[in-house]
Amino acid sequence: IIVVLDFGGQYNQLIARRIRDLGVYSELLPFNTSAERIREIAPKGLVFSGGPESVYAENSPQVDPEIFELGIPILGICYGMQLMAHQLGGKVERANKREYGKSDVDFVADCRLIQGLDRKQLVWMSHGDHVVELPTGFETIGSSEHAPIASMSHPEKNFFAVQFHPEVRHSVYGNEMIRNFLYNVCECAGNWSMETFIDDTIRDIRNQVGDRKVLCALSGGVDSSVVAILLHKAIGDQLTCMFIDHGLLRKDEGESVMETFVGKFDMHVVKIDARDRFLSKLAGVSDPEQKRKIIGNEFIYCFDEESKKLGQFDFLAQGTLYTDIVESGTATAHTIKSHHNVGGLPEDMHFELVEPLKALFKDEVRKVGSECGLPDAIVHRQPFPGPGLAIRVLGEVTEEKLTIVRESDAILRDEIAKAGLDREIWQYFTALPNMKSVGVMGDARTYSYTVGIRAVTSIDGMTADWARIPWDILEKISVRIVNEVENVNRIVYDVTSKPPATIEWE
Ligand code: XMP
Repeated sequence: IIVVLDFGGQYNQLIARRIRDLGVYSELLPFNTSAERIREIAPKGLVFSGGPESVYAENSPQVDPEIFELGIPILGICYGMQLMAHQLGGKVERANKREYGKSDVDFVADCRLIQGLDRKQLVWMSHGDHVVELPTGFETIGSSEHAPIASMSHPEKNFFAVQFHPEVRHSVYGNEMIRNFLYNVCECAGNWSMETFIDDTIRDIRNQVGDRKVLCALSGGVDSSVVAILLHKAIGDQLTCMFIDHGLLRKDEGESVMETFVGKFDMHVVKIDARDRFLSKLAGVSDPEQKRKIIGNEFIYCFDEESKKLGQFDFLAQGTLYTDIVESGTATAHTIKSHHNVGGLPEDMHFELVEPLKALFKDEVRKVGSECGLPDAIVHRQPFPGPGLAIRVLGEVTEEKLTIVRESDAILRDEIAKAGLDREIWQYFTALPNMKSVGVMGDARTYSYTVGIRAVTSIDGMTADWARIPWDILEKISVRIVNEVENVNRIVYDVTSKPPATIEWE
């Protein structure tokens, strides 16, 4: 393992990711992790990440000085380099000329970090401070126009540091440089893969859980499904999954979840039929935020009540991902919509958590899922919001309106899959604006609902563009919905990006 100590930089998650992509397991730990803890973990190398502070500022994040005495190779990146200089007796100052973006660095010939690479390299810088005096025992190994000490090393101690960001793609040899650190300096074998991740995780779960019992909330989404399958592999019948059908699922979704986990994997899944419970709570409510809050709370009450009926559990398994942890850390972000996740826990529940995915990115979770034999329909399932179809029926939610969304959505999904566009379009669904209009069907006037089609391309859901579905496919979808779904006489296509709109309509 390579431990990345996190000083709060923007690209930190990328560093761990790059290392894993190079076949070496890596995790981020907080910058203040003690030397003792590091000694226990016994990593083959440490990386100090970038960060927004100045090392010389009061209360700036520093590492336990004993970490430098552990005999473990260290790579400092940006703030991590400045920190290494600062804590080991060098000097860091505010730079006269700050560097943001592309820069050329000239390296010396015989450095293990750039072995086999060009000596002149295009790199990506983003810093306001720089190292002006080396600590004892260090030498300069690279310089740029405005940062004479753009890279330094202490070859005997295996300490290396770079002012730029090798983890971003714009640093042309960044990845090779990380590879050199891993293979030449830390002597990693580079044989880590998703299979080893699965084996290690199963072993860790067994160690953590022993012969006690675990409860897992299963939503049918990729994260909770992968968690469930990993736990099942690790502890078999000590795992109970709870699947709450809140009546806001897509067509056939409940059945397919049960078919997969009970039918295919022979797991112990308790399905809770909470449809009436949720619908009655939602009756008469039309404000979107209120709807979301009701569903979030009701989910927790329901989970709490039903789990008590199932007996005593010591652990709760959750599909927390790396990005969930990062995003929940943004104290300054505005609440655009209060997202609710199936993992939302009542505060007075005394479970220990099992979170086997918390070091992974979504695409890595998908790889684990495939590797474990989960069907493509789950592994590549499009994102589906916790509050389900309730936020796709605008205004008050009724059974009649849910049926329209559910049926029209099934047609849309069917046609998109037939057209082979299901992997290309990030998310696609129908929504029911609270609106009726006049139409003519079979020579008679109709006054029926309008269905909206929403389809977007996106990387992470934070921003999105509307998908250019070919017109003939849109036409097929439109004709089918109006013909097959009762009480609908008009179809519209949402051509707004995010921002200014959001992906969901509520
Ligand atoms: P918006 O509508 O905010 O959605 O642009 C961005 C992405 O998040 C999904 N979404 C949710 N996911 N709980 C979730 O787990 C929620 O409450 C929630 N609301 C929106 C949405 O489907 C899109 O993928």
